[in-house]
Amino acid sequence: MTNEPILRIENLCKYFPVSRTIFSRGAAKQVHAVDDVSFELEPGEVLALVGESGCGKSTLVLTLLGLEKATSGQMMFEGRDITHLDPSGLKQLRRRMQMIFQDPYESLNPLMTIGELVAEPLLVHGLVHSRAERLARASQAMEDAGLKPASNFVHRRPHELSGGQRQRVVIAGALVLEPVVLLADEPVSMLDVSIRAEILSLLADLRAQRGISIILITHDLSTAAYFADRLVVMYLGRIVEIGTTTAVLQNPAHPYTRALLSVIPVPNPRQRRQHTILEGDPPNPIDLPPGCRFHPRCPVAFARCQQVDPRLTLVDDGHQAACLLIDETPVR
Ligand SMILES: Nc1ncnc2c1ncn2[C@@H]1O[C@H](COP(=O)(O)OP(=O)(O)O)[C@@H](O)[C@H]1O
Ligand SMILES: [Mg+2]
Repeated sequence: MTNEPILRIENLCKYFPVSRTIFSRGAAKQVHAVDDVSFELEPGEVLALVGESGCGKSTLVLTLLGLEKATSGQMMFEGRDITHLDPSGLKQLRRRMQMIFQDPYESLNPLMTIGELVAEPLLVHGLVHSRAERLARASQAMEDAGLKPASNFVHRRPHELSGGQRQRVVIAGALVLEPVVLLADEPVSMLDVSIRAEILSLLADLRAQRGISIILITHDLSTAAYFADRLVVMYLGRIVEIGTTTAVLQNPAHPYTRALLSVIPVPNPRQRRQHTILEGDPPNPIDLPPGCRFHPRCPVAFARCQQVDPRLTLVDDGHQAACLLIDETPVR
């Protein structure tokens, strides 16, 4: 079986200009929201993007969908370059790659019925022409998203549903186009803790049953660890560690990943890890520190970390991290 990646991102950068104020002097500054990011997504894979708020996770997926324009770098999807698509190319892309936003309250028009909301993408893409067929496909997508039987939901409106049901409506609206990739940006963070696992296992089922690839964005490493095949840990726009979930959890190579892991409770108290509490906030992505951008908060930083910006380095098979303490030759 050939295992061509479904998505390949190479050296992707997205910088936002910072508006000048009367207080700013010198050269125009930029926010380095996504800074030289490369990774691949395999068919049927769940890849989690993890990192604190502001590290560039949302910007990365918005750039993938063309909702933000890449500053530089390249993105390939199903073998085609999607870096600079025109509006019709973007429309085609968004049939195959669908986003599930964080907030099921904001993303649903309160005036529409659930049936209309789920069927709307079919209209936008001009995919079905009869009302009956549209209803049939919307109902199927709703049942696939766990809204069963669909006939109980089609005539209702968003405010009549619970938060979890609304997120299922959002997922049904993504599924109705039969995408091959789902981009789920913090899909459960606005939901009640008690229903988060249900929505995450729905996503896991979709991968298992339909082979959909998923990029799951979360600031919560334990969610990522539970659902993802591979983890991508980001810090201030950069990937600091990437590898299979097992490799990263068993042998975290970056001090930032170790700090994130140290606050996850472990079931066996004898395996208790030493807690590393990260001090301070992440530095400002406008004025990045020189050298390794993690060094001001790093518990094991040494002198050279203030000068050298570490590159991703092989830790073990398929597992890389960007830290000067890893004594290997850079792979990129
Ligand atoms: N449209 C924008 N204009 C300027 N800065 C932005 C914009 N969108 C995001 N940013 C900045 O880019 C950085 C990454 O943001 P974001 O991608 O939202 O992070 P995350 O999703 O990981 O919380 C942050 O510093 C944020 O303030
Ligand atoms: Mg975000």
